[in-house]
Amino acid sequence: MIRHRAFPVDPWSVRETELQLDSLQQTESVFAISNGHIGLRGNLDEGEPFGLPGTYLAGFYELRPLPYAEPAYGEPEAGQTIVNVTNGKIIRLLVEDESFDVRYGELRSHERALDLRDGVLRRTAEWVSPAGRGVRVSSTRLVSFPHRAVAAILYEVEPLEEPTTVVVQSELVTNETLPASVGDPRAAFTLTSPLQSEYFDSQATRAILVHTTKASRLTVSAAMDHVIDGPEGTEFKVESFADLGRLTVTADVAPGKPLRLVKFLAYGWSAERSVPAVRDQVAAALTQAHHRGWDGLLADQRSYLDDYWERSDVELEGDAELQQALRFALFHVLQAGARAERRAIAAKGLTGPGYDGHAFWDTETFVLQVLTYTAPQAAADALGWRRHTLELARRRAGQLGLRGAAFPWRTIHGEECGGYWPAGTAAFHVNADIADAVVRYQAAADADGGFERDAGLELLVETARLWRSLGHHDAAGRFRIDGVTGPDEYSAVADNNVYTNLMAQRNLRAAAAAVERHPKRAAELAVDDEETASWRDAAQAMLVPYDEDLEVHPQAEGFTQHQTWDFEHTTPQQYPLLLHFPYFDLYRKQVVKQADLVLALHLRGDAFSDEEKARIFAYYERLTVRDSSLSACTQAVIAAEVGQLELALDYFSEAALIDLDDIDHNTHDGLHIASLAGTWIAAVAGLGGMRDHDGILSFSPRLPQALTRIAFRLCFRGRRLLVDVGRAQATYSLFDGDPLEIVHHGRRVTVSTQRPLTRSIPKQRPREPPSQPAGRAPEHRRPA
Ligand code: BGC
Repeated sequence: MIRHRAFPVDPWSVRETELQLDSLQQTESVFAISNGHIGLRGNLDEGEPFGLPGTYLAGFYELRPLPYAEPAYGEPEAGQTIVNVTNGKIIRLLVEDESFDVRYGELRSHERALDLRDGVLRRTAEWVSPAGRGVRVSSTRLVSFPHRAVAAILYEVEPLEEPTTVVVQSELVTNETLPASVGDPRAAFTLTSPLQSEYFDSQATRAILVHTTKASRLTVSAAMDHVIDGPEGTEFKVESFADLGRLTVTADVAPGKPLRLVKFLAYGWSAERSVPAVRDQVAAALTQAHHRGWDGLLADQRSYLDDYWERSDVELEGDAELQQALRFALFHVLQAGARAERRAIAAKGLTGPGYDGHAFWDTETFVLQVLTYTAPQAAADALGWRRHTLELARRRAGQLGLRGAAFPWRTIHGEECGGYWPAGTAAFHVNADIADAVVRYQAAADADGGFERDAGLELLVETARLWRSLGHHDAAGRFRIDGVTGPDEYSAVADNNVYTNLMAQRNLRAAAAAVERHPKRAAELAVDDEETASWRDAAQAMLVPYDEDLEVHPQAEGFTQHQTWDFEHTTPQQYPLLLHFPYFDLYRKQVVKQADLVLALHLRGDAFSDEEKARIFAYYERLTVRDSSLSACTQAVIAAEVGQLELALDYFSEAALIDLDDIDHNTHDGLHIASLAGTWIAAVAGLGGMRDHDGILSFSPRLPQALTRIAFRLCFRGRRLLVDVGRAQATYSLFDGDPLEIVHHGRRVTVSTQRPLTRSIPKQRPREPPSQPAGRAPEHRRPA
């Protein structure tokens, strides 16, 4: 693991105090800014050098062939890949007759900072050209949360010593050349020149480009406008070509009197609307941005974020670095989901092309856990996207010979794009994960039942139908779900995966209960009593395998009889195992890529006793290698529950620092949004012990030695709740609405707006710490 302290500790910003060219691709991900609709990687203003240029729009993709060595029935025919759309970030600079380029001349200072409260990326640099001309360049970049189609940059340049002629070129660049893909299955497929020009125009200080994709037939438009504030004699001209829009500004600048350029950007895309319609939509958004002005956009951004932090901040005392990482994580989760609005939230958000820009179960199981309690509208929108793709999921189920809906394992638009079916189509649990997110959202945020009626019910019904047709009652009456892959991708196509079966059980019960609440709507979906009875029967008879000898559940039937992986002889360089060993060997041994049964202990904690949880956790700790970043947060949650608080903190830190420390060495492809969401999960469900089974909020907070306080805020049924945890007691404060019944360490209590409620934290029985596979223990957290 790299432990470079690139970023000084600061509670509200992530700051890089010098430019490290060898980790540019990684910091471009860390400094990416997004509102969930538009995503700009943290590329340098002047475009070069770059690690990987990136400008993305949620849901905007190109189709590509998926070649198979052995074609088989039901395999997805085409892949979908996120497109690097027109780059509007570029502002090139000529100082006298030399290009401002940090690789040449002398870079005296360079600082970039992601400000988590203002929601902007700031950069300042002092540079002396090879000919000895010094300039100070600064830029502030934002992608607006409240104005979904808008981004903006404030760019300033002034000489350090003597009057200097500068030329600034503000550009829109389409079809940038991208570095070729590497042989890592997690990296993106590289598309060459995916966009063809449909329209371009430029006038005054504006330029607009419209393109379409060749195969997916999507239309995208990018436009820019400027406000130029320079010394007398400043000149400018604008031009446009098929793949380039350019405003060129020439000015003679003097020290203390910078040339100031505000660049407004607008983006839009559509699968349906015509080229003129998309062009005009973007032109209108640009006019709106111009009208709001730089100061207005900045103020709107701050007020949006003030609101967000007010209802979502997590304070942590005793570890300043972890505090910073937590806020960084929350900020990026918000950036990934805030304005995605009926588009998929990708595993990397809009910070990079990793995993081809696909969304997975990561969204519902990790990201939506956080958004439901911090930005509920964004959670509703994400589930609205699933609802929107139901027809595709129904078709996929039909193709597979199943009833109901089979949602894709990975996708951008809604069709299954997983070309490797054992860790794709067979991972049916994604359907129960979506249902689980629906149930959680309904209980936490759907006060008037509108969401359930419009979207939730249908999602529950169609996924319940899937489970009913995927499983069967055996001769003994038990309901079996055979031949599926659970969350742990080092086992595949196994029978009765405990996680899958328990989540399917919840799905079936929730669907039956929702039908009872909405009989009319259910009748429209052709649900009758017989069908709901069959769901209830299946749930009741659900097979949950248990190993009587070991007194633990096998992850799936037969798992505990497999040979154990030879951890002793596996070297640190052979992780992740998927890049060094064949799947067939991983599949037939006891080795766990990521929390699977342990995730069931969290999400279906109601199905296990405390003793079972402790035994299962210890057993699976010895086998879990964490080759997926989706694991550490869940291990933190269960470690905390079974009293391993120090271990919980170690896992919490690993989830939190996944990208700031580039722990998995692939932050360059984009951030690990589910792990960043997992940071909140580790804090709130882990140290806060929050559970939400059956719509009741319960907490069992406890702190590890190193921390003195953790305080988190939640939105619950339109109310705001603050949980403030110290070493000996926890205080609950409700800020609005009717009194709320919650559970504190197993006891029901009622918290009202009248006064905060304080309860002591009971002592916990000490247990032996579990062990991990050789060399795979998490780094022990020693607060800085
Ligand atoms: C994990 C999956 C996850 C995917 C995208 C894989 O490595 O095993 O569970 O959905 O990454 O984050």
